[in-house]
Amino acid sequence: MTGEEPAGVVVVTGGASGIGRATARRFAADGYAVAVLDRVEASLDADRTEGVTAFVCDVSDRSSVEAVVDRIVATLGTPTVLVNSAGIYRPAPALEITDADFDELFAVNVRGTFLTCQVVARVMAENGGGAIVNVSSVAASESTPENVAYSATKGAVSSLTRGLAVSLAPHGIRVNAVAPGPIATPMGRAATNDPEYERRMLGRVLARRFATPDDVAVAIRFLADAEASYITGHVLPVDGGILANR
Ligand SMILES: NC(=O)c1ccc[n+]([C@@H]2O[C@H](COP(=O)([O-])OP(=O)(O)OC[C@H]3O[C@@H](n4cnc5c(N)ncnc54)[C@H](O)[C@@H]3O)[C@@H](O)[C@H]2O)c1
Repeated sequence: MTGEEPAGVVVVTGGASGIGRATARRFAADGYAVAVLDRVEASLDADRTEGVTAFVCDVSDRSSVEAVVDRIVATLGTPTVLVNSAGIYRPAPALEITDADFDELFAVNVRGTFLTCQVVARVMAENGGGAIVNVSSVAASESTPENVAYSATKGAVSSLTRGLAVSLAPHGIRVNAVAPGPIATPMGRAATNDPEYERRMLGRVLARRFATPDDVAVAIRFLADAEASYITGHVLPVDGGILANR
């Protein structure tokens, strides 16, 4: 797409790895100018995909998010799409999880998602609207013994998605989420390093394989597209059928 006007400006948080990185590459391949936000500077430096610009940002920190969104608007233009893929995983059974891990999970997964939605939606609203896709999880609907706090953050992301869809509709902004099952990303490997858990989960996947980051990026790309203009407030499982096969 060199020399042509970008198809639009897309912001992808957590874009240095996993689902975020696959999503950024998909939008870039479709001719969008993509701003990737991540707190891991080294991984951002390693990604030299054409059409992708990297910004160091901690999504749980309002001043960091506001400063980066100002820079994106000034350098790339006003975003019409926001994808919130930044997230962390801190497994621990209910009797063992620490206050620090509990608070960090909520700071990144919930407040981080909300902050980027709020800050980016303010500029979208001034420019005729846009689309937001959050990344929830099947963990929003069910848990393992170690997922108590993580599952609660993903339940909050699904709930925020519906609430934001209602609140931002008058500003021309659609808000949806995807809810992936286990995926072999750095985070997914941390969650599935128990062979017994992996065997049990795989037994429920109707697709008979775990997802790839691209499987999720396809769904995100669809929900963000103007062709999905009648879909808002929806949480789409991208789980190979896990939730249907309890
Ligand atoms: N991998 C799975 O099995 C799985 C399943 C369901 C949902 N999810 C969700 O998908 C999303 C992406 O996960 P992934 O598997 O690609 O993980 P990942 O670890 O590969 O990528 C997450 C990225 O988010 C970044 N990040 C973390 N905290 C941040 C912060 N405060 N500010 C900015 N960036 C930050 C990390 O540096 C990393 O690059 C997460 O929200 C996760 O909860 C993952």
